[in-house]
Amino acid sequence: MTDDLSHVTSAELASPEGTTLDTPNLDEAAIKAAKAQAAAEREAAHLKEHPEHRVKSFVIRAGRMTTAQTKALEDLSPKYLVDVSALERLDCTAIFGREAPLVVEIGFGMGKSFVEMAQKDPLRNYLGIEVHPPGVGACMLLIEELGLTNVKVIKYDAFEVLTKCLGPESIDILQIFFPDPWPKARHHKRRLVNDSFLQLVTPLLKHGGEIRMATDWENYAEQMLECLNRAPELKNTAPDGGYLPRPEWRPLTKFEQRGERLGHGVWDLVFTRV
Ligand SMILES: C[S@@+](CC[C@H](N)C(=O)[O-])C[C@H]1O[C@@H](n2cnc3c(N)ncnc32)[C@H](O)[C@@H]1O
Repeated sequence: MTDDLSHVTSAELASPEGTTLDTPNLDEAAIKAAKAQAAAEREAAHLKEHPEHRVKSFVIRAGRMTTAQTKALEDLSPKYLVDVSALERLDCTAIFGREAPLVVEIGFGMGKSFVEMAQKDPLRNYLGIEVHPPGVGACMLLIEELGLTNVKVIKYDAFEVLTKCLGPESIDILQIFFPDPWPKARHHKRRLVNDSFLQLVTPLLKHGGEIRMATDWENYAEQMLECLNRAPELKNTAPDGGYLPRPEWRPLTKFEQRGERLGHGVWDLVFTRV
């Protein structure tokens, strides 16, 4: 059991100078968790002011665009691409032409599983955020092919979109499936999901809303679970407080299929905002 830390301020526990803490009753794990929480709070507050200081979670590679993807970016953008270059608050009711629960997916890749989910769930609006231009082109082609009106895409760094363009309690479901695992320890700082990320995105979720994640990288799954457990307003939906079996609503993604071929496991997590 962890000690009650309510009498200790975050600032005290996170003393940057490493001063000795006068907290004799606290066990080591509780102090560590509270320090991580306080550090995340400071970092999140700083990043909210200066998102440009964040280490990017992606590297845009000069991937080849097919002719169809290039054409999709030219022809279909007016219909499906949301321009966020001004980094101003979005009016989702105007964007989708209706008021409906909002699902936001970060890093949809080529968009196949994202669009499939949206097709099966016409009563919700789906907003996908991806930086990879061929993926955005491919996704818009699929939306057009299926004639969907409940899907829009954004070609921009999700971190900036979330901090500047979406308001408090505006998202019903936030999903991040198979984010880049950045397996080398020196690259872990590039991982999208960490304490400060959760500090920033939790207030964007409606109370009762969900944050859904999946990864095929065990060490990242552990990091996700630790950070989600530390986030004060998030509660695990898994009865045993761990990972969930693959939810039937999540279609197999392209990256997941690749992992399957390589013999990787998959870890699913769904937390709700209390
Ligand atoms: C490993 S891929 C997984 C794609 C897809 N979800 C799947 O499972 O097939 C991760 C994707 O996240 C995108 N990504 C990473 N950081 C991002 C960010 N900050 N904003 C938007 N997209 C991002 C990358 O461009 C990449 O396409």
